[in-house]
Amino acid sequence: MKQTMISQIDASYVGKQVELRWWIEHVRGSGKIIFVELRDGSGYMQCVVEQKMVDEQQFEQLKACGIESSLLLRGEISKHPKKEEYELQTKEVEVITVSKDYPLGQKEHGVEFLFDHRHLHLRTKRQVAIQRVRDTIIHATYDWMRDNGFTKIDAPIFTPTSCEDTTELYEVEHTNGKSMYLSQSWQLYIEAAVPGHGRVYDFGPCFRAEKTKTRRHLNELWMMDAEMPFMDYKDNMEVQEQLVFFILQEVLRINRADLETIGRDITKLEKIELPFPRKTHAEIVTELQAMGSDIEAGHDLGGDDEEMLMNKYEQPLFITHYPKDVKAFYMPEDPEHPGTVKCSDLLAPEWYGEVIGGSERESDYETLKKKILEEGFDLEDWSFYLDIRKYGGVKTSGFGFGLERLVRWICGVHHIRECIPFPRYHNRITP
Ligand code: 4AD
Ligand code: MG
Repeated sequence: MKQTMISQIDASYVGKQVELRWWIEHVRGSGKIIFVELRDGSGYMQCVVEQKMVDEQQFEQLKACGIESSLLLRGEISKHPKKEEYELQTKEVEVITVSKDYPLGQKEHGVEFLFDHRHLHLRTKRQVAIQRVRDTIIHATYDWMRDNGFTKIDAPIFTPTSCEDTTELYEVEHTNGKSMYLSQSWQLYIEAAVPGHGRVYDFGPCFRAEKTKTRRHLNELWMMDAEMPFMDYKDNMEVQEQLVFFILQEVLRINRADLETIGRDITKLEKIELPFPRKTHAEIVTELQAMGSDIEAGHDLGGDDEEMLMNKYEQPLFITHYPKDVKAFYMPEDPEHPGTVKCSDLLAPEWYGEVIGGSERESDYETLKKKILEEGFDLEDWSFYLDIRKYGGVKTSGFGFGLERLVRWICGVHHIRECIPFPRYHNRITP
């Protein structure tokens, strides 16, 4: 008898003998009949164990099993008398490991308790559903990038210098005693791969030493950076919206049941359509001021501003032309909107806020060199970046999405810590 996954079981299985293994999600009954809800990672299924149908010793062993015990059950598939579900009429039970006094699920737990037990918390229905959506987002991204001519380039995690805000760098000591830093974004390195490969991307962990304790910041996050030659910031937004829309459709196709488990209002996701609206930072400042924000022209949007703004929007929103002082040095100024750069942030609707940051890149050698010096950087660390301009430099644009930010929005999760298996944020590096 070959092993069957719960997700495979449909009407064609009724009357068939199967073998199911894995964990007890829930168990009830005692006396003469026990109902076990079994979880195998592909789904959940009710197994009916009647005393008279199984060996007496096996029935007693099953009675001693608490939730999260692991079992092997053999029996016949039947259809639930009322629901569109299938059940296992059990004939044999083998207990693999008895679990007793499982610490989670007995009562309501506080958040810290749950995250102290994250290794167990990850098995709960909601967490399983969130991670399944994350898996779809990752696969959809790889599929879309490959179908659209991108090559994946793996960049180093140890770097000699920063990519974004230097105040958020993790410094580590190299074996030679000198300092190096954990990557904040792999962008600069994939830019170097553009002349060889054309469209490129990376996908991996990035590190940001943000001390703030917010619902949207992690210290270790997964980012996907993409970089494309001969594209301006407008083309860049078109690529982003196509990718995000594709990811969303994939999640709606594959993870409907997971979204329901999480309690996501799916109609909000179904309403998303192309193209996404675009507004300038200046327009948004005016809009926010009218809503009561104290934001001033020329200032960055705070998390509160993004939330307040996006509460009003049903579609993701591109905000372009941020003031140059609040954005990274590699973003070129737009002569048509002096004082601002050719960039865009993509904000998710329903208060979720920024999910993507992107821009055109400064392609002029001398301008870039001047900016690097103005930042106070050591030219030696940046010679590789300048060489990309020196030898066949062209206009490129790119963007980076935060995987956990996308998971958070698509799943409708309040706090980003639920969006990664083992979150690292202020005050938490365990388990
Ligand atoms: O906007 P950011 O800082 O942009 C960059 O790093 C560029 N180098 C990307 C590029 O153009 N290739 O970060 C990109 C995205 C943000 O929009 C956000 O979704 C996510 O990364 N992000 C974080 N997510 C969780 N916790 C944090 N501390 C994050 N910082 C950035
Ligand atoms: Mg950003």
